[in-house]
Amino acid sequence: MDKKRGRQPYKSRTEKDALRWSAKLDRHRVLHNRIKNAAPDILSSDNFQHTKSHIQHGNMTVNAHCQNVAKYSLIIRDKLHIRCNEKELIRGALLHDYFLYDWHDKDHISPRKLHGFYHPGIALKNASKEYDLTKREQEIIKKHMWPLTVVPPTCREAWIVTFADKWCSLLETFHIHKGHGAKKDDGMDAAV
Ligand SMILES: [Fe+2]
Ligand SMILES: [Fe+2]
Repeated sequence: MDKKRGRQPYKSRTEKDALRWSAKLDRHRVLHNRIKNAAPDILSSDNFQHTKSHIQHGNMTVNAHCQNVAKYSLIIRDKLHIRCNEKELIRGALLHDYFLYDWHDKDHISPRKLHGFYHPGIALKNASKEYDLTKREQEIIKKHMWPLTVVPPTCREAWIVTFADKWCSLLETFHIHKGHGAKKDDGMDAAV
């Protein structure tokens, strides 16, 4: 016991723990680089940066949620050896929730607005204004809320993002994945 501060000393990590953490960090770094290389324009854009001001689930921002969905989409693709277009998979995942408003605002939670049903269409409209979306990227954004969207996805990339999104949303809602909370709004107007 650390008598001065009255708390338990930290348990020292074993060499095995250290190796496990280092391997985990390496895997994370590689995934992050794949995402960065596929979408530097999206990651650095003002509107994507602005999604750090909006919470998606729990205390995870929309920005972090979309990056997590891109990361888990790659993990699913790698684990299951699914042949698909990696660049389109990443870009679609990053833009799948590009609705650019705070859906917790009273203007968006009313039953009339039905955020869950309508935000894929809004995200697609916003993303199309800024990026030359491929058919697969459009499909990813449009169908990621399936089965709410009724018509199922028609490409592997959209199926992967649909599952990665549900998995990430579950972990975020139950605070298993924790975020850092929303960045204070800088007053910049979003595209909608
Ligand atoms: Fe969504
Ligand atoms: Fe999402």
